[in-house]
Amino acid sequence: MQTPATTPDLAAIKGRQQKTWSSGNYARVGNTLVLMGERLCEAVDLKAGQVVLDVATGSGNTALSAARRFAQVTGIDYVPSLLEQARARATAEGLEVDFREGDAENLEFPTAHFDAVLSTVGAMFAPNQEKVAHELLRVTRPGGKIGLVNWTPEGFIGQLFKVTGQHVPPPAGLKPPPLWGTEARLEELFGEGVSSLETQRQHFVFRYHSAQHFVEFFRTFYGPTLKAFEALDEAGQTSLAQGIEALANRFNRTSHDTLAIDSEYLEVVAVRR
Ligand SMILES: C[S@@+](CC[C@H](N)C(=O)[O-])C[C@H]1O[C@@H](n2cnc3c(N)ncnc32)[C@H](O)[C@@H]1O
Repeated sequence: MQTPATTPDLAAIKGRQQKTWSSGNYARVGNTLVLMGERLCEAVDLKAGQVVLDVATGSGNTALSAARRFAQVTGIDYVPSLLEQARARATAEGLEVDFREGDAENLEFPTAHFDAVLSTVGAMFAPNQEKVAHELLRVTRPGGKIGLVNWTPEGFIGQLFKVTGQHVPPPAGLKPPPLWGTEARLEELFGEGVSSLETQRQHFVFRYHSAQHFVEFFRTFYGPTLKAFEALDEAGQTSLAQGIEALANRFNRTSHDTLAIDSEYLEVVAVRR
């Protein structure tokens, strides 16, 4: 049978994504997002002693938030340099977290192992959305919680991906990650696997000196932006920088000598059936 031209090679895409997240230094961005992981632990009403997994932990934000609440935490990610930074952060705070290399699409844990499985703007990026959802459900015990933070399509970061995609198109046929920021897609992905699915629209405020500062910071440290710039010639780079700057200025809700952007995300709490 012939493969349709739009069927994406998900394994190849994942390999490129791993290189993308390994570039720059995502931790510099992640360190500004600590609040989202803290809020997520409260949203799932995490209890001391619970066995918790943080999927796509990056430099450990949400895993550390859970460990501050005396949970027994494992954090997985496929970028070793981010895990090293996560371990250093845990040591600095005197927290014990098991940070391991792993793939969100193939969680190497027994079925029904965790009381809570969390992911803060992490699991949403894996190319095979169905496989990730299946794995999140599989490793959560019945009655346990799945807690997610997902950027919405219409929010600032969803729009950042859109502007970036206008300059460097994503692979054909790949489902956009911000679909995880919609109730309809979550219902499709989790289906009968959950007994309840609650969502809340939240905002993370990006605070930078200016739109230009935001562009420079993301271009230097945030892999997806860095790689998009790398793929373009000089004219394309100028155009992308202008596009992101215009977007940031459009979302700026404060005066033009500083930047404060309310970036919408969906906070999701699902109970495993
Ligand atoms: C935007 S960062 C979020 C990191 C962290 N959760 C936080 O809140 O700061 C996305 C993370 O997802 C990780 N990631 C993406 N796809 C993954 C996959 N298939 N398996 C494991 N990690 C993945 C990246 O390496 C990166 O650390």
